[in-house]
Amino acid sequence: MNKLFVIIFLFPVMAGNRSFAQSLIPSKGLKDYYANYFPIGVAVSPRSLNGPDSILILRQFNSLTPENAMKMGPIHPEEHRYYWKDADGIVDFAQAHGLKVRGHNLCWHEQTPGWLFKNDQGGQVTKEVLLQRLKEHITTVVSRYKGKIYAWDVVNEAIDDDSTRFLRNSLWRQICGEDFIAKAFEYAHQADPDAQLFYNDYNTERPEKRERVYKLLKQLRDAGVPITGVGIQAHWSIYEPSEKELRATIDRFSSLGLKVQITELDISVYPWEKNKRARRPDESDTLTPEQEQRQTVQYKKVFSIFRDYKGALNGLTFWNVTDRHTWLDEYPVPGRKNYPLLFDTKGLPKKAYWEVVNF
Ligand code: GLA
Repeated sequence: MNKLFVIIFLFPVMAGNRSFAQSLIPSKGLKDYYANYFPIGVAVSPRSLNGPDSILILRQFNSLTPENAMKMGPIHPEEHRYYWKDADGIVDFAQAHGLKVRGHNLCWHEQTPGWLFKNDQGGQVTKEVLLQRLKEHITTVVSRYKGKIYAWDVVNEAIDDDSTRFLRNSLWRQICGEDFIAKAFEYAHQADPDAQLFYNDYNTERPEKRERVYKLLKQLRDAGVPITGVGIQAHWSIYEPSEKELRATIDRFSSLGLKVQITELDISVYPWEKNKRARRPDESDTLTPEQEQRQTVQYKKVFSIFRDYKGALNGLTFWNVTDRHTWLDEYPVPGRKNYPLLFDTKGLPKKAYWEVVNF
């Protein structure tokens, strides 16, 4: 029997407290509270669709993003071999239960397969070959899920971390120049003209990064590239963004006539850090009351802003399901537990959840 079911329902029932048990299972989910706003999604691995998380997912969410299964490394490990099992499993689950799917992602500088940038002699491929490989990859993947995936993150994180530079100096850029971005969108649009196509990035609320993302979006839009919108990843924390920064970002991007999606939402209980480091001995492993309070305030604030932007925002996705497992447990401080989501380590709604749904 499903462990989550036992913990949240049968245990209190067996303990004779039926109404307590029922009160722990929300009768409505996030997707229902936000039915008149935007789809509410979650990033998943194939495992979460078989285990205890699956009940929670079906109750709370109406959209899925494969956390890793559609990235180029996992799905296209060798030039002439694709690995479909995990990605197909997620799409099949979504189809069986009437959920939407966001595809993630088609072109990124991380989690790329080893063969991608190399020629037969082990040297670097030419621009012509790399664009041909990109085209073949995008055409194959997007066509396979045509009609089943409503939106794609086409290019991920192309802006440099260094605020004095524009594009990240990735191998994509070194080999192809700026062209690869527009090309990726064109290939995706050719493969599925009905799919919504997004550029996706992090720290987009910080003014200097926001302006560089805006510049890229404007260039693409002005050049007639088939882009629907921009994904604000929203790997945030209890310290940022401020209300002003967040509103300014959505205003700025939507002023281009583009849609905005929140694509990877989580609210870390630690300040943002980018570089890996060892855990400090003073770093606690429990969620302190103060952290939880600040997180509740932050979730309430950002969701109230999201609701104000109902017209501009057309999707919102959380990055992972519950605090039991989140990528932030390992990043950027391996072994430091984080608690960034709306459901606790037992899969139960946290205080922040009730602030998000009671409006
Ligand atoms: C970025 C990527 C995601 C994921 C997260 C960390 O935001 O877009 O796919 O890898 O980093 O999990």
